[in-house]
Amino acid sequence: MMSEEHRIPRHVAIIMDGNGRWAELHGMERYEGHTHGIEPIRIVLRTAARLGVQYLTLYAFSTENWGRPANEVRALMELFCRCAINEMPELKAQGVRVRVIGDRSHFSDEVRHRLEELEDGTRNGTRLTLVLAIDYSSRLEIVEVARELARMAAAGALDPEAIDEQHFADALWTAGMPDPDLVIRTSGEQRLSNFLLWQASYAELYFPEVLWPDFGEKEFVRALEAYAQRDRRFGLVKNTTHNVD
Ligand code: FPP
Repeated sequence: MMSEEHRIPRHVAIIMDGNGRWAELHGMERYEGHTHGIEPIRIVLRTAARLGVQYLTLYAFSTENWGRPANEVRALMELFCRCAINEMPELKAQGVRVRVIGDRSHFSDEVRHRLEELEDGTRNGTRLTLVLAIDYSSRLEIVEVARELARMAAAGALDPEAIDEQHFADALWTAGMPDPDLVIRTSGEQRLSNFLLWQASYAELYFPEVLWPDFGEKEFVRALEAYAQRDRRFGLVKNTTHNVD
């Protein structure tokens, strides 16, 4: 039996998939699906905070998403800016701290400024950390760590033989955060798509069929219940101390 404190995941990460299909189903332009993806974020955030989840990471824009049609990319960037402005008071009231992970170098000045403002404005939040993965690529994140460690080794500041998992964890964009316990991807797709590949090594994966704009409190609670029923072993054989990995 798992102990009670393991029943609520400390960190939930979500791949919010299916916005385009939802929009098409409702006779809308694909990009409008993303606008309808905001309300589920509000609901999940409120529910997560209420139930004691401490970190909520949302995959809002992958590095690959730059390849989408220009009007969709523009709509998403406008949405980020609009939400950063409009949601700030509510996020602060709820004790939410926002942290953005991703490349950032391709953002317009406006997007970079709004996201920094959101991070700064919410920095005193202690109840829940909302991590927005924007222009995020897990492989790029890992490559950047390798570059940084190589630079340190070349400068004589780090012995290559001493490099261990902790060095990597400490140099990732997620430094200081616990690994996700539960990764949810909506819309029935069962892939990680370059999301938190290092961090999700031991995460439970959950793939509801529902499209993201239709994801609500009921679906989120169902995901947490499924998580609570799973027996996490972290590579250990149950009831023994033998490591099988
Ligand atoms: C995937 O759906 C979803 C995205 C690429 C974007 C998700 C972004 C939001 C919901 C807005 C987030 C806003 C903030 C402020 C965090 P898709 O278009 O790939 O759907 P499809 O698989 O049906 O085509």
